[in-house]
Amino acid sequence: MVSCCDCQVMVVFALVLARQLTMQMMQNPQILAALQERLDGLVGSPSGYMESLPKVVKRRVNALKNLQVKCAHIEAKFYEEVHELERKYAALYQPLFDKRSDIVRAAYEPTDEECEWKPDEEEELTEEMKEKAKVEEEKKDEEKEDPKGIPEFWLTVFKNVDLLSEMLQEHDEPILKHLQDIKVKFSDAGQPMSFTLEFHFEPNDFFTNTVLTKTYKMRSEPDESDPFSFDGPEIMGCTGCTIDWVKGKNVTLKTIKKKQKHKGRGTVRTVTKTVPNDSFFNFFSPPEVPESGELDEDSEAVLAADFEIGHFIRERIVPRAVLYFTGEAIEDDDDDVSEPSSVMKVKRRPTRRTIQTMSPR
Ligand SMILES: *[C@@H]1O[C@H](CO)[C@@H](O)[C@H](O)[C@H]1NC(C)=O
Ligand SMILES: *[C@@H]1O[C@H](CO)[C@@H](O)[C@H](O)[C@H]1NC(C)=O
Repeated sequence: MVSCCDCQVMVVFALVLARQLTMQMMQNPQILAALQERLDGLVGSPSGYMESLPKVVKRRVNALKNLQVKCAHIEAKFYEEVHELERKYAALYQPLFDKRSDIVRAAYEPTDEECEWKPDEEEELTEEMKEKAKVEEEKKDEEKEDPKGIPEFWLTVFKNVDLLSEMLQEHDEPILKHLQDIKVKFSDAGQPMSFTLEFHFEPNDFFTNTVLTKTYKMRSEPDESDPFSFDGPEIMGCTGCTIDWVKGKNVTLKTIKKKQKHKGRGTVRTVTKTVPNDSFFNFFSPPEVPESGELDEDSEAVLAADFEIGHFIRERIVPRAVLYFTGEAIEDDDDDVSEPSSVMKVKRRPTRRTIQTMSPR
């Protein structure tokens, strides 16, 4: 008999050997090509088994597939009801979100009782540290006299979330200081499924809108041409809104100077041109998906990221904004964001994560 120790040695040895073999194979282009060929051959015909079946059996398998399509349509109904539930619960959350907004923008001063919060045990400070913190806090209070509400609440949330801070430019920050609330509105019953993100701003020097909107259309029906891929509602497209920029404040534009040579006379003159500038506010003018559904690579990448962001704001940020403000929610989300791939594949599946435990299958 082999002792346990030997066993381990053998396993390790086998692993090393396998690894070496793999490395050698991967370095040999012929083996690699052959491997690829076999993989390609396997796609769509997992085993060749289906082909080997008698005609009468294949015929019945088709009947099973038709049943499967019917299942997909029932599943679509399931997700419609989930959407209804979401709408119902959204109405229950809303008063709390409204109160949050009131506190943030200083429309309401919470009572002492409402402000009582037991710190986590690990956050428990020693007496000495407490004293020090108190002194510093008082000093800070003297410096910044009378802050209103929770200053820069949403801007801080944006800065704390990688997905959003990547879009954030320095020139966006003074504008986002005026952001007072983000609301999620669901489409009404009987309407095509969608949700709208509303960004509420206080009056500011940059644009005259008080609300900027971004609407995500969803598809909650199996695709006729590919019914088996259905796995719940998917984001199919989005529309932004027109921002009424105050003259000279359009941060999504920049002017550049260009030297232009006159062909005939050979004189050189400088012309100014306006070109798009990086900005979070480009979020409100996403690329349009043409009827054909064909997109160039750039637009596709922009949209894939956009769907990801829209989904994230709806699912995570709006429901738990304070935890993104304090930073408490950030670590949990690190491995939560799936990679964007191509748009037509990235149709995000907004409700999938939340309802996994109550999937009908
Ligand atoms: C364009 O972007 C640059 C760099 O992000 C920024 O410094 C500049 O202010 C922007 N231009 C306008 C007109 O906002
Ligand atoms: C602001 O810039 C965008 C391009 O980034 C343009 O489409 C829009 O018309 C501009 N708006 C104003 C009011 O200048």
